[in-house]
Amino acid sequence: MKEQTPMGMNRTGMQMSPLDASAMTGAPASMTPATPGDDSALAEMRSAYIAESDPIGSVPLPGTVKGAMTTGISMLTGDQPQLLLDKLGERLAFERTGTRLYDALITKFETMQDQSTSMTLADLQKIRQDEARHFAIVAGAIESLGGDPTSQTPCADLVGVESMGLMQVVTDPRTTIAQCLHAVLVAEMTDNAGWELLIALAEDQNQNSLISDFSVALDEERVHLQQVNSWFQEATIGEVISSGALVDDVGDASTSQQLH
Ligand SMILES: [Fe+2]
Ligand SMILES: [Fe+2]
Repeated sequence: MKEQTPMGMNRTGMQMSPLDASAMTGAPASMTPATPGDDSALAEMRSAYIAESDPIGSVPLPGTVKGAMTTGISMLTGDQPQLLLDKLGERLAFERTGTRLYDALITKFETMQDQSTSMTLADLQKIRQDEARHFAIVAGAIESLGGDPTSQTPCADLVGVESMGLMQVVTDPRTTIAQCLHAVLVAEMTDNAGWELLIALAEDQNQNSLISDFSVALDEERVHLQQVNSWFQEATIGEVISSGALVDDVGDASTSQQLH
């Protein structure tokens, strides 16, 4: 079994170089910075880009006649069908990522044969199936509104960027189960908020036929969140215990330092 986060020769902190640290903190406040200026030039440049930029893409017009009519009617009544389609696109993208996150977590769990939590392979496979089914529910909902599930909406693009870090954590060969579960916890919290918003939007736009499927998905997300959160806590407490054991094994902390 792979060992948990070890105590080691981490050189990132200021304490690693006491002489340089005291020279730095001892510098007189009146001393001019090594480089002139402050962050106002950075803010100015960002402002210029913000003022000139276009939005992140657009919501495509529904390609089918049925869709065009539905969208047209909603537009006429003052609704914002593009908002619902944009958020459905977002959920589609995130559920796809969720499925891939669990695929990666399953591989890690099987390889490490981790027993630090009550989580089982069957639990992970069940959630993975739920995520894939949620993806299919959203794809069906987009089609029922005449939209194209293969198009990337602005919010789908956005969550694609946001979730890149989560995938990187879970697919990094060095990360522990506890670290992966932290990334998955972020995804599940977002899943819950995402479905809640989608149900509210569907209600707002009188798309009542979508709500029962969405409510089932939200109920499942609530179970995922509760499970992942408890596994994360179990795995994290396990780490604290094994770190303590590591120090005990080598005698005390000072011996541990010398070993490095
Ligand atoms: Fe989901
Ligand atoms: Fe989920």
